[in-house]
Amino acid sequence: MAEIIDGKSVAAEVVAGVKKSVAELAAKGVQPGLAVVIVGEDPASQVYVANKSRTAKECGFHSVQHTLAAETSEAELVALVERLNADPAIHGILVQLPLPAHIDAGRIIQTIAPDKDVDGFHFINVGKLATGEIETALVPCTPFGSMLLIERRHGKDLSGLSAVVVGRSNIVGKPMANLLLAANATVTIAHSRTKDLPALCRTADILVAAVGRPEIVRGDWVKPGATVIDVGINRVPAPEKGEGRAKLVGDVAYAEAERLAGAITPVPGGVGPMTIAMLMANTLVSASRHAGVGRQAF
Ligand code: GUN
Repeated sequence: MAEIIDGKSVAAEVVAGVKKSVAELAAKGVQPGLAVVIVGEDPASQVYVANKSRTAKECGFHSVQHTLAAETSEAELVALVERLNADPAIHGILVQLPLPAHIDAGRIIQTIAPDKDVDGFHFINVGKLATGEIETALVPCTPFGSMLLIERRHGKDLSGLSAVVVGRSNIVGKPMANLLLAANATVTIAHSRTKDLPALCRTADILVAAVGRPEIVRGDWVKPGATVIDVGINRVPAPEKGEGRAKLVGDVAYAEAERLAGAITPVPGGVGPMTIAMLMANTLVSASRHAGVGRQAF
């Protein structure tokens, strides 16, 4: 039976560390500020954004949320981001994705000042991560949090370990691969066009599933003893809970995989809580850098 990696408790430790640093910064007259922007009424996004704003308040941040109508124009959103870029009380800007189809998400992301880009999606931060300049980068929250869970089990140096990342998104797959590479793992990025995906996954000491398809990674894809990080959060029908009910499952068939894995993240309660915790960590790091004090990296 695998060790269950408790993302909730690791996330709580990260948030506790952030709160402690916030108190230290307050003594120096600095309060980290996070602005979260949501456009439209996507129900899942509303839940995520509410959690981010609430946790920011819990951390003692100056927390502002901008909730904009679905019809908001691209120019209006650009203008808001530019105002936040210029606001000295704000150290982190997060524009929740997806955006409505009439807005060019790429343009919005590239409008965010790189040193306030707590999502780590701006080309400057992507480039820093890809070239190993992690110390001065802002790193995308989900892969950053996944990496912390991997470090708990394997330490910071992954020399000699083979890692397979299933999924090549800009938000998770690619930055995850770069973080693993920076930690000396031997990294393969797999995706829907990969030949014999199960056989490739079976070579992985560290298997990261970030595809967004419920339970696509089966138990017999897992190398015995491997560390399995399940980034997927998929809502699927759960008739066993009653008519019309749903449940969350990951990209990994958990009940099968936990029989073989050495350690595995559950869904929910694995990577999910880490994403929000690392957003808090990134906002703290950004505020510290802006003030020229305290913690520069997490
Ligand atoms: N939508 C889903 N995940 C994310 C994320 O990490 N950041 C933003 N901005 N939007 C998202």
